[in-house]
Amino acid sequence: MNIVLNSPLDMHLHLREGTMLQDVAPFTTGSFAGAVIMPNLVSPVDSLEKVRRYKEEIHAAGNSDSFAAYMTLFFKNYTRAELIAAKDEIIGIKLYPAGITTRSESGVSNFSTIDETLSLMEEMEIPLLVHGESNGFVLDREREFLTVYERLAETFPKLHIIMEHITTAEAVEFVDRYPNVSATVTLHHLMITLDDVIGGLMEPDLFCKPIAKRPEDLESLRDAVFSGHERIMFGSDSAPHPRHKKECCGCAAGIFSAPVALPMLAELFEDVGRLDLLQNFISDIACKRYGLHPPEKQITLEKISWEVPELYGKVKPFGAGRTLRWSIAR
Ligand code: DOR
Ligand code: ZN
Repeated sequence: MNIVLNSPLDMHLHLREGTMLQDVAPFTTGSFAGAVIMPNLVSPVDSLEKVRRYKEEIHAAGNSDSFAAYMTLFFKNYTRAELIAAKDEIIGIKLYPAGITTRSESGVSNFSTIDETLSLMEEMEIPLLVHGESNGFVLDREREFLTVYERLAETFPKLHIIMEHITTAEAVEFVDRYPNVSATVTLHHLMITLDDVIGGLMEPDLFCKPIAKRPEDLESLRDAVFSGHERIMFGSDSAPHPRHKKECCGCAAGIFSAPVALPMLAELFEDVGRLDLLQNFISDIACKRYGLHPPEKQITLEKISWEVPELYGKVKPFGAGRTLRWSIAR
């Protein structure tokens, strides 16, 4: 038995730069037709020139002519002229609250100063991708940020707002309330709760932002995804960090799931008897919501088991050491 996926898309991906980019890009460019590339580099991708340069680096590292790198700008206040120039070369603009996660120091610290840019984005139909967490207590951050989402969704009803990597039941309910709002969900947030991270021995490899939440939240995310929610799509948030940044004091947040994303998603959907919805989650919803026409690329998964390696280069992948049922046919 095989599963054939048409143009799978990863709608939230960290590819980094330099040798890390070289090491990790092929896992995505080989098995996906496109990915939304996050702009939180050491020097954030906050100009058209940086977008162009980074895109070239990605294509050189990924070495695939059937892969679209959907670029994002790092949110700051942009002028009309800057947005007009960038519009056709980006898929959207990614907003980070200042200091909320890896390399977000230059993000937004005052949400009352951004409306002019948001209004221009709404007018030009440039989507807004958001890391939606407050600076509050870690388990409450996503819920507290819903008031910001609410103001944005109501003030800019034609702005396409994407709640990135949602992790709570409240976030799922919020998506339902606003037609201009979509969301991405990661692979790991469909599998783990906070117990897996700190309930036994601490697991740095499962430490990410937003942190995994309660069993009820996991159930709610799974219910939404496995019932074919029309505005919730796949975004891996695959975020590689070298071993020495994970196994240390001050462990970096991020889970590297790119090499296992498709095989593991196939297992999850198969386990709930909803393989029929995988194509929807992995590509069709994103195409509809963003109006995309990705490169045509068929990826076949075969029922051949394999063991996830302990390391790919310097990075430990999600599921290391586990035996998976589905392999990507090469
Ligand atoms: O866990 C995370 N890692 N969450 C983010 O929002 C950023 C990412 C990274 O860049 O490492
Ligand atoms: Zn991310």
